Amino acid sequence: MRFPVRILRRSVPVPSSTTAQPGAQALPAGARRSRALALAFAAAIVGCIVAGALWGGLPGPGRAVAAVPGVAAPARGLPQYAAERTLGVASCANSLCHGSAEAWPGSNVLQTEFHVWQRSDRHARAYRTLLSDKSQAIVKRMGLTEPAHRAAVCLDCHAHNAPAARRAPEFSITEGVTCESCHGPAERWLRRHVESGASHRDNIAHGLYPTSNDIDRARLCVSCHFGNAQKLVTHRIMAAGHPRMSFELDTFTLLGPAHFRIDADWRERKGTWDGVRAWAIGQAVASQEQLAIFLHPQRGRDGLFPELVLFDCHACHQSMRGNRYLAARLKAGPGIVRLNDSNLLMLRLVARRVDADAGAALAKQIDRLHQAIAGAGDPIAQARAVYEAIDGLLPRIAAHRFAAADLQAMMEALVADGLASQYTDYAGAEQAVFALQSLGDFLARQKAVAPDQLGPGLRRLLALVADDEKYQPVAFQAGLREFAATLQAARRGGAK
Ligand code: HEC
Ligand code: HEC
Ligand code: HEC
Ligand code: HEC
Repeated sequence: MRFPVRILRRSVPVPSSTTAQPGAQALPAGARRSRALALAFAAAIVGCIVAGALWGGLPGPGRAVAAVPGVAAPARGLPQYAAERTLGVASCANSLCHGSAEAWPGSNVLQTEFHVWQRSDRHARAYRTLLSDKSQAIVKRMGLTEPAHRAAVCLDCHAHNAPAARRAPEFSITEGVTCESCHGPAERWLRRHVESGASHRDNIAHGLYPTSNDIDRARLCVSCHFGNAQKLVTHRIMAAGHPRMSFELDTFTLLGPAHFRIDADWRERKGTWDGVRAWAIGQAVASQEQLAIFLHPQRGRDGLFPELVLFDCHACHQSMRGNRYLAARLKAGPGIVRLNDSNLLMLRLVARRVDADAGAALAKQIDRLHQAIAGAGDPIAQARAVYEAIDGLLPRIAAHRFAAADLQAMMEALVADGLASQYTDYAGAEQAVFALQSLGDFLARQKAVAPDQLGPGLRRLLALVADDEKYQPVAFQAGLREFAATLQAARRGGAK
């Protein structure tokens, strides 16, 4: 099972027209089949198993899952679960609305959104993907009796799977991930949002989903691009052939066809747009969703074991030859199944920058969580503590203005963490590269480094994470060392 490396380009709808693009970006490949499994999970998850025994049951595919006590319901307010009716894409697509062939000169928004989405946005093809042989093979291997395009477990992310009672007759599930999947069911806001004097705030009060808010946007994208307690590409679905999920909010927001433009007018209507802040918030929200799943009595478990998708894939999927002893960085000794902490590693850096004390406290909590998962402590209590710490941090990250000094410090800390062997797990290295791209891009935009100077170094790092099965922590460290030198030089070359 191989997923080809895709080249990502930033078709950037971002402020200022500087074109400092650190080159074409390759998205690390998806899940790959592993040749050998070194299965070593027993000791690691005793704590979870004990907790799981108290919780019981495992959700079947598509079955509704209850909320986690003490943890905010992640799906709260997401378009799929909204109380309003979904009207269908035809209600947006009129040529006098968002289906115009050309951008309107006098309009706040492009008005061509429908064409951009239909022609070149992968979301418009999401339902069609379920008709493919690959999808049919996945559900067959999972032992489902219905085809993929009828299975709620697939439709939840590959379409706008609102409850039947909240679908207008004009709506069709075949539309895929539609305007209303992201902007919210239009029942109450459709008419109002075109009236003169309509404001963004008023639209939101009538059910428009606040995609312009980083935290809300992160919850929305992460709900499908990783999952939440309601829906998830589980390890079973991945083992049946689904690609491994790879997501970073800033990179993915800027990827592909933008049907919106961030300009003075957008900012006036909707507030500030800051890709670095989006990156930071994306890390916080993804970490929280992972922990919410971990904490979930059913979703977080699969029989005797916890949900394996929450852990580092290569903790298990690696050759038994060669003693890589990668667990060293967690001080937990060899033979441990490690939590996938790729988002937490990034968040730690952000937290340190936003508030040194809170950052140090979070780092300690995360260490304790790793130790608890390895048997020393209560993993459930620790996961909850980290979740809550992130809750406290989120509004502060959202309010932080990331200056060039922040970006430089975070880039240097990223490199330093890597040299201190923090990215020995593939997923951590992958997120580190996404982060270096985002930070580098913004440093260049702010003219703090010379445009194009980081490009070659970033491309080398991308190549080193292009294939998760060929990932070599030692080579990645060498790449980072080289990148550190490039960064120094680029800073010297930056416009004064
Ligand atoms: C309702 C679920 C859902 C939501 C919400 C969602 N996506 Fe997606 N997204 C998908 C699916 C499914 C695909 C893959 C479609 C296909 O090819 O079948 C996808 C594909 C993509 C791709 C293309 C990836 C590639 O490898 O080329 C990008 C980029 C993307 N999404 C970004 C986002 C962003 C940013 C958000 C939040 C603003 C978001 N998505 C919200 C389900 C969703
Ligand atoms: C939690 C949300 C989620 C669920 C549940 C989910 N998918 Fe996906 N799926 C995605 C996203 C997001 C992508 C795109 C990943 C990317 O490109 O980064 C995707 C990609 C795919 C692809 C690869 C598409 C391509 O062209 O590369 C296939 C095939 C697929 N999904 C089938 C299924 C099937 C079948 C099911 C049900 C068993 C399912 N998915 C359930 C979110 C989901
Ligand atoms: C995968 C999620 C997603 C889908 C699907 C989607 N959008 Fe968007 N849309 C966004 C995001 C993110 C933004 C940027 C943030 C914002 O302006 O709220 C946006 C912005 C917009 C804007 C506002 C631009 C501005 O300047 O204020 C319009 C209008 C819009 N989308 C219309 C549509 C239409 C029409 C469709 C369907 C044809 C659609 N969108 C599909 C996520 C999505
Ligand atoms: C705790 C150990 C563990 C972790 C962590 C883990 N897996 Fe697995 N994986 C397994 C086991 C056990 C199997 C079943 C092997 C078999 O059927 O022979 C498996 C099977 C698979 C298969 C099917 C392989 C095949 O040969 O058919 C894929 C694909 C897969 N896992 C992907 C992943 C991905 C992606 C991740 C990380 C998101 C991951 N796994 C995390 C233990 C793990």
